[in-house]
Amino acid sequence: MSIFPIKFKADMRHILKADDFNPKLIEELFKKALFFEKSLEKKKDLKSLVGAIMCSLFYEESTRTRFSFEAAMHRLGGQVISTENASMFSSAAKGENLEHTIQVISGVASPAMRYADIIVLRHPEIGAAQRAARVSGVPIINAGDGAGEHPSQALLDIYTIQKFCKRLENLSIGFVGDLAFGRIVRSLVKLLSQYKNNRFYFIAPEGLKIGQDIKEYLVKKGISFQENGNLEDVIGDIDFCYVTRVQKNHIQDQKFIEEYQNSKDKFVISKEIYELSEARGTFFGHPMPIDSREQEISPEVENLPRVIFLKQAGFGVPVRMALLEWIYKK
Ligand code: CP
Repeated sequence: MSIFPIKFKADMRHILKADDFNPKLIEELFKKALFFEKSLEKKKDLKSLVGAIMCSLFYEESTRTRFSFEAAMHRLGGQVISTENASMFSSAAKGENLEHTIQVISGVASPAMRYADIIVLRHPEIGAAQRAARVSGVPIINAGDGAGEHPSQALLDIYTIQKFCKRLENLSIGFVGDLAFGRIVRSLVKLLSQYKNNRFYFIAPEGLKIGQDIKEYLVKKGISFQENGNLEDVIGDIDFCYVTRVQKNHIQDQKFIEEYQNSKDKFVISKEIYELSEARGTFFGHPMPIDSREQEISPEVENLPRVIFLKQAGFGVPVRMALLEWIYKK
């Protein structure tokens, strides 16, 4: 007999991939995120998650995702348990598999004695969040699984796009940089594909081009896209330019990194690119971190009005507050 509480599992709101969202749910979450944004500005005392515990279980490094989820939980009156570097300081270092870790934290054998009510998981392996959800007694949020997906980042990204472009439909969106290994782009393309008449430009060096699976996904949905090798050629047609760093931590073959470094001028947001986008009024976002060695957004433009990555990172808090409350209040 299974020890897993199947009924409990079936009721849960896991967030594992971008396709777990839909426009109706996104609208609901964004209304709540806007409410939280205003509440934070007014320093309102919020209490909707008092008594709830979130476990942030990060096997990979993070600044924004981990801290904004933790801040979101604290802001709603909830509590957080965590470990510094789960690969090193959880019992994974002693050979424990992910499944056992998740089963224990989520209290599958004794739900009343679970350690946490929600688990936010970042892991280096594609599919790790799905593996976790299969055995978990509590909802799992995928905070990045290798080169797989990062759905909550994509959610805050479209919140940002809506704020600045005032719509989520009829947009030309450029994706620049490492499109092969960047998990955020995979999630963001899928989310933006749920809205009408969006067109995508994929601007990447050889070796870091968007994956065949994403292209097939777009073809199947009848969504228009093109691939380019130089941002300068298309910047005048782009409403929102989403810049990404080269995922050196996920790239095995050094050759791809060298290829990027040798042709970098075609992919960085320079003063020239900023000026070329003036007429269109293009906004420039980045999920961060920006690699200070590569400067994919040049320091000479990073404080200009249409470069909005710091505001984007800030939206992580109200958007994740909305997400946590929606998951917990089920
Ligand atoms: N955007 C993002 O995922 O940043 P971190 O790696 O710092 O969490």
